[in-house]
Amino acid sequence: MIDELVLEAAEQYAQDFFAQDASGHDWHHTMRVRRTAVRIAAEEGADEGIVALAALLHDVDDAKLSPQTTEGLLNARSFMEEQGVSEDVCNAVLAAIREVSFTKNGASAPSSVEAACVRDADRLDAIGAIGVARAFAFGGAHGRALHDPSGADQTATTDHFHDKLFKLKDLMCTNAGSRIADHRDAVTREFLDEFLREWDGEA
Ligand code: ADP
Ligand code: NI
Repeated sequence: MIDELVLEAAEQYAQDFFAQDASGHDWHHTMRVRRTAVRIAAEEGADEGIVALAALLHDVDDAKLSPQTTEGLLNARSFMEEQGVSEDVCNAVLAAIREVSFTKNGASAPSSVEAACVRDADRLDAIGAIGVARAFAFGGAHGRALHDPSGADQTATTDHFHDKLFKLKDLMCTNAGSRIADHRDAVTREFLDEFLREWDGEA
C-alpha cells in the first residue's frame, strides 16, 4: 500500500519539476498519464498505488529535461527515499519508469503488469485528440511545418503521424490499453484524413 500523502507529495513534486516546461512533457501530461494508467490498472488487476506513483514520476528524469539524472533515475529515487517509500515499492516503481520509454524499449515486453499500465498510458497520451494537439504543439515549439506535401521535409508534423503515432496502437501491452488505443487511433486517423482533404481543398 502506498500512502495517499506520498501520492499527493509526488503530484506536487511533478508540478514543481515541470513548472518551466512547455514542450508537451508537462505536468498535465503527467496527470493524464496517471488517470489513464490507474484506469487501466483497475481493469488489469494491477497495484494501483505503484502504477499511480510510477505515472507521477515517469518523466522527472526525462533525458530532455534532466539528462544528468536519467541513467540512475536519481530524481525519482531521491524523492521516494525522502518520502520513506519501502525498498520493494521503490524498486517496482523504478522498474516501471525505466520501461516506459518508447525509444529505449520499443516493442519489448514489460516486466510487470504495473509497468505495462504506465507504458500504455504514456503512449496513449500521444494519440487521440490530445495526442494530435501535442504533436502540433511539439512541431510549433520546434519551428516545424504543419505539413509538407512534397514529402521532402521529413520533419513536418504530419510525418510524425506515420513515423510514430500510427504505430502505437499495435504496441499496447494490456487489453484495456488496446481497447482505448483502438478508439484513439481511429480519431487520429480521421483527423489526418480530414486535414489532408482540407489541405487539398476537398473538404
Ligand atoms: P515519449 O517520452 O513518450 O517518447 P516524446 O518526448 O518523444 O514522448 O514526445 C512527447 C510528445 O511530443 C508526444 O506527444 C509526441 O508525439 C510529440 N512528438 C515527439 N516528436 C515529435 C515530432 N517529431 N513531431 C511532432 N510531435 C512530436
Ligand atoms: Ni510521458
